[in-house]
Amino acid sequence: MMPFKIIEVERTASTQSLILEMDREGTMREYTVVVTTDQTSGRGQGKNVWESERGKNLLFSMVLEPICTEASDQFLITQFISLAIVDTLKEYAVEEVRIKWPNDIYIGEKKVCGVLIQNNVIGNQISKTYIGIGINVNQEKFVLAPNPTSIALEKGREYDLREVLESVLERVLVRYKMLKEGKREEIKREYLDLLLYRGEKRKYVYKDKEIEAKIENVNCFGHLILETERGGKIVCELKELRFVIGK
Ligand code: BTN
Repeated sequence: MMPFKIIEVERTASTQSLILEMDREGTMREYTVVVTTDQTSGRGQGKNVWESERGKNLLFSMVLEPICTEASDQFLITQFISLAIVDTLKEYAVEEVRIKWPNDIYIGEKKVCGVLIQNNVIGNQISKTYIGIGINVNQEKFVLAPNPTSIALEKGREYDLREVLESVLERVLVRYKMLKEGKREEIKREYLDLLLYRGEKRKYVYKDKEIEAKIENVNCFGHLILETERGGKIVCELKELRFVIGK
C-alpha cells in the first residue's frame, strides 16, 4: 500500500524498540511500518507494559517526518494520530469512541488502543516521529490490562489484522495530510470534541488528592486544563492526573 512500506516480523520484544533500533543510523525512510502479532515485551506509557495475546492484535510502529511541525506544537502529532485511530474504529461501526487524554482510545469507558510517540527534534522542528500503536482487535480475555476491550468484544466477531492495519494506515494518511496542510485548528477542534468526559463534572485524582472538576481544554504542550468547582483552572501534566473511570 502506497506510500507505506510494511515490514512484517513474526515475533519481537517491541515494535517500538525494533523500529528505533533499525533506524539508529537515521536513514529509515518516512512511512516505514514495522508490524508483528507476537510482541513479547510490549511497551506502554511510562513504565507500563502493553499486554497482547499472540496472534490476536494489531501491534505496529511507524516512522513519519512531520518536518512542518514545530517542537512547540508536538501535541499535534498526538492529536492527528488519535483522530486517525478514531476514524478507523468508526469505519468498523464501533460506537462511543472517545479519546482519553492524552492518547488512549476508548470505547465507552474501556481502552481499546494505546499509542506511544517518540519525537526527534532538530532545532525547532520535529524531524522524525516514531509512533507505536497497539489496537486490541481479536483478544477476548486480558490478564494485566486494567479496563480493556477489543473490537471483537464490542462487535461479536473477529477481524483480519492485515485489513485493520490497512484501514488505519489509510486513515493516518488522510489525517497526516491535514497536518501538512496546516489545518491545525480543525485537528485541535476535532480532538477536543472527542475527549472522554469533556465538560462533565467528574472526580479526578490530581497530585494524589481527589478533586471534582471538568475538562475544559488542552494547551499546545498537551497539558490538560481542568476547571474546578470554584471556577479555578488547573493545568495538568500526564503524571499528575489520574482519571476515575466508570464512576
Ligand atoms: C499505552 O497506552 O500505554 C501505550 C501502548 C503502546 C503499545 C504499542 S504496541 C506497538 C508498539 N510497540 C510497543 O512496544 N508499544 C507500542
